[in-house]
Amino acid sequence: MKTYDSEDRYIKDLDDGKREIALSTDDIHVSYGTHEAIHGVSLAFERFKITALIGASGSGKSTYLRSLNRMNDNIAGTKVTGKIMYRGLDVNSNEVDVYEMRKHIGMVFQQPNPFAKSIYDNITFALQRHGEKRKDVLDETVETTLKQAGLWEQVKDDLHQSALALSGGQAQRLCIARAIAMKPDILLLDEPAAVLDPISTATLEETLMELKERYTIIIVTHNMQQAGRISDYTAFFHLGNALEYDETRKIFTRPKIQATEDYVSGHFG
Ligand SMILES: Nc1ncnc2c1ncn2[C@@H]1O[C@H](COP(=O)(O)OP(=O)(O)O)[C@@H](O)[C@H]1O
Ligand SMILES: [Mg+2]
Repeated sequence: MKTYDSEDRYIKDLDDGKREIALSTDDIHVSYGTHEAIHGVSLAFERFKITALIGASGSGKSTYLRSLNRMNDNIAGTKVTGKIMYRGLDVNSNEVDVYEMRKHIGMVFQQPNPFAKSIYDNITFALQRHGEKRKDVLDETVETTLKQAGLWEQVKDDLHQSALALSGGQAQRLCIARAIAMKPDILLLDEPAAVLDPISTATLEETLMELKERYTIIIVTHNMQQAGRISDYTAFFHLGNALEYDETRKIFTRPKIQATEDYVSGHFG
C-alpha cells in the first residue's frame, strides 16, 4: 500500500504555463453500471487557487468531483478509469491507501453532514482515529479550524453541545472545520452553499477566499455569481465532458465555445 507522507508537502508538477499543479486528471471516465456519466475529462488544478466546476444539472460535476478522492468507490456498480495524479501517485490506483489519501484530499458535501456528536468531537474524531491523543493538540485544532471556518466566535462557549443543534450555515462551516482539521492539501466542495441563506453564503465565500492561502480548492457551484466572485479558474461541464477550462474572467467575458457562452449568459444576471 502506498501512502502520502504528510510531512512531504512538496508538489513538483508544473504545467506548460509553469503553474504549480496540485492535482491533475488524465482521461477520467466514470460509469454507473452501463451508463457512462464522465467521458474522458483531463484537467489540472493550480495550487492555492480556487477552481469552480460549473454546468447544468446532470452534466457530471459531482461525479467528477467525487472521483478526485475516490468517493465514487462508495457507490456500488461505479467504475472509474483514468489517472488522477497527486504528488506523484495515481489516486485511482489500487496501490493507494484510500483512507490515508483522504487526509490530504478532503471533501465537503452539498448537505452539511455533522456527526451526532459534540462540535468538539466532530472536529477531533478523525484525528483521534489516526492516533492523536494529546489534549492540547486537539484543543488547538478545534480553535484554529473553527476560526478558519469563521465559526469560532459563535460556538466557542458551546463546544461540547451537539453539532445537530447548529443552523444549516453553521453546520456547513463545522463540516469545513472538520475537513481542514486533517490539514488536507486539497479541499473538494460540492455546492456547499446550496442549503445556505445569502448571509451564510457570503460568510462561506469569505472563508474560502481566506482558505485558499493554504489550500487548493475545487468547488462545484451552479451559482454563476458565486463562481465569478470567488474562483480563479472555471471549468464548464456539459454532458459529461469538461468543454472549456480557463481563467474565470475569460470564461465569463469571452468564452471560446458557444455552449459555454450560452450557459454563462443564460445564468448570469
Ligand atoms: N449514484 C448514481 N447512480 C447512477 N447514476 C448517477 C448517480 N449519480 C449521478 N448519476 C448520473 O450521472 C450523471 C451526472 O450526474 P451528476 O454528476 O450528479 O451531475 P451534476 O453534479 O452536474 O448535477 C447524471 O446522468 C446522473 O443521473
Ligand atoms: Mg451535483
